[in-house]
Amino acid sequence: MTTQLRARRSCMAVPGSNQKFIDKARTLPVDQFFLDLEDACAPLAKPGARKTIVAALNEGGWGDKLRVVRVNDWTTEWTYRDVTEVVEGAGANLDAIMLPKVQTAEQVVALDLLMTQIEKATGLEVGRIGIEAQIENALGLINVNAIATASPRVETIIFGPADFMASINMKSLVVGEQPPGYDVGDAYHHILMSILMAARAHDKQAIDGPYLQIKDVDGYRRVAGRAAALGFDGKWVLHPGQIEAANEVFSPSQADYDHAENILDAYDWFTSEAGGKRGAAMLGDEMIDEASRKMALVISGKGRAAGMTRGERWTPPTD
Ligand code: GLV
Ligand code: MG
Repeated sequence: MTTQLRARRSCMAVPGSNQKFIDKARTLPVDQFFLDLEDACAPLAKPGARKTIVAALNEGGWGDKLRVVRVNDWTTEWTYRDVTEVVEGAGANLDAIMLPKVQTAEQVVALDLLMTQIEKATGLEVGRIGIEAQIENALGLINVNAIATASPRVETIIFGPADFMASINMKSLVVGEQPPGYDVGDAYHHILMSILMAARAHDKQAIDGPYLQIKDVDGYRRVAGRAAALGFDGKWVLHPGQIEAANEVFSPSQADYDHAENILDAYDWFTSEAGGKRGAAMLGDEMIDEASRKMALVISGKGRAAGMTRGERWTPPTD
């Protein structure tokens, strides 16, 4: 399955030091979870959390959820031990390492090299474990294109709004909402689009970060809806109450999914010998061509990754 086809609509943050939350996360219908060694894990709890995380990954019970661990960023003293303990201890049961506060391509290369060493030393398949790069400050955003291409392991580019807002001195404490005083558009548009362009240019997934007002599910849905409308693939969830909204907002509607699959079938037929080798043709009242096929592929890819099943099917004309 290629990167693009692994659903990451809902990505659940789980503190790596909290066994209760880890056990709960196993039961939740998220596409991905990440066990956190960074900001949801107090400095004194980090050494113990590494062990808890290794045990939790090796115990299994995660179904087909993507299994990710967020390590600490390279400016701390914790990163190498986070990576070494987790990959050595549970590399076979891990899909990706999330690297926060990435600022340069070199930081991704450094992580790749360390992971490669561990894989070689322990007999793991080299390169299987991916990297998720979090963009959380101005330098990271400026370098996002180089970060996306720094290693073939990079699977996602993630927006970290809380750290980002702090790092650029944005005058607001409410993550995801517009800063008071800015009333001429969406203050996040440039950031989201820069991340999305880097992701799309290099076949990575673009993921939106957390929404902290966990009781405000309508607010979550609104902010997630904006990212989804632009083309993002998923968003973090911090609480079980946000999961349904994430899975729904980042899946195509049933009507759009059926329509996309029908465009693919119809275009396939119209361009064939039997269909008259046509490059442009009518599907009902709509003209479809190669560009329609490309748009349909995006919707159908997301629907298939989300496990959707088709409703009414288009069939070739019989006369
Ligand atoms: C997530 O890590 C954030 O800073 O928003
Ligand atoms: Mg952060």
